[in-house]
Amino acid sequence: MKVSTICVLGGTGFVGSRLCAELMKRGYRIRILTRRRERRRDLLVLPGTQIVECDVHDAPQLSACVSDCAAVVNLVGILNEKGHKGEGFRRAHVELIHKIIAACRNHKIPRLLHMSALNASPGGKSFYSRTKGEAENFAHAAGNQIAVTSFRPSVIFGPHDNFLNRFAFLLKLAPGFFPLACADAEMAPVYVGDVARVMADALDDPQTHGSRIDLCGPKRYTLKQLVEYTAALRGLKTKVLGLPKSLSKLQAYFLEFVPGKPFSIDNYHSLQTDSVCPGPEHCPTPLEMVAPGYLLDQSRYVQYERFRSRH
Ligand SMILES: NC(=O)c1ccc[n+]([C@@H]2O[C@H](COP(=O)([O-])OP(=O)(O)OC[C@H]3O[C@@H](n4cnc5c(N)ncnc54)[C@H](OP(=O)(O)O)[C@@H]3O)[C@@H](O)[C@H]2O)c1
Repeated sequence: MKVSTICVLGGTGFVGSRLCAELMKRGYRIRILTRRRERRRDLLVLPGTQIVECDVHDAPQLSACVSDCAAVVNLVGILNEKGHKGEGFRRAHVELIHKIIAACRNHKIPRLLHMSALNASPGGKSFYSRTKGEAENFAHAAGNQIAVTSFRPSVIFGPHDNFLNRFAFLLKLAPGFFPLACADAEMAPVYVGDVARVMADALDDPQTHGSRIDLCGPKRYTLKQLVEYTAALRGLKTKVLGLPKSLSKLQAYFLEFVPGKPFSIDNYHSLQTDSVCPGPEHCPTPLEMVAPGYLLDQSRYVQYERFRSRH
């Protein structure tokens, strides 16, 4: 039997690494496109995996890289841009999907899995959600030569995530209290292993053609609850102080200028809409089953047990 090659854009990232491992287990050959091959040479240990350096924003290069693939997976996404006007979001989300669809058309690639985000909508409150929404709509308007499935996750957790791990890092720097913007925003964190499984299942499932699949974990939390849980896992007694709306916005204005943008105005706008699913969940793994495995500080286990007995 001929083994199909799946081309994965953004395959070096947090979700991408997990998805590529899942696809590899299912017998696919994988071609990961990256802007810097040297950074993720570790991925080459996955059998049947090729890592190709490619500027995915360069249409001819992208077209050449995907030319012999049976399907394309687009995982490219950014949470923050260098400037403040939305051009970075537009380039990474909207302009890129135009080039991907053109490349798929050129080479008659019949299948595209596209990673969007919960609340993505052209009418969304942030550049992130608006550009994700436009990109998702454009992908689904590609016509019947390309079967598109898009995935709309809430925040994703798992080893090496950029969410709980980031709070764990920031909490360590906090002086006994942690001022938290948008503390009441609700989310339904979803396990990266579940996301990878749902995407890999969809690849060969004609019933998902044209679908937009919301991905949420089994339980909702406020952002404050998640940060308190992270503090407990790290054995920290840091008090998490939810900021009112005006101070949340002010914090976003200041942190926008801190290197690495730990929080931005655009993130603030995104958090004005809860990231929870209205419908049935596809992702059953509870946060509490996985997060201790990568966040728990064993030397402070007693403090964590005390927190657990109170919640
Ligand atoms: N993580 C979450 O909680 C979450 C929630 C909802 C939706 N999503 C979406 O899921 C997708 C994957 O997320 P992730 O957490 O795995 O992200 P990630 O770890 O940051 O990985 C994204 C990958 O995309 C590539 N990339 C980033 N910016 C790019 C740019 N400007 N141009 C071209 N390539 C770029 C990078 O690959 P190279 O550096 O190798 O080129 C990177 O490895 C994204 O679309 C994200 O918006 C994530």
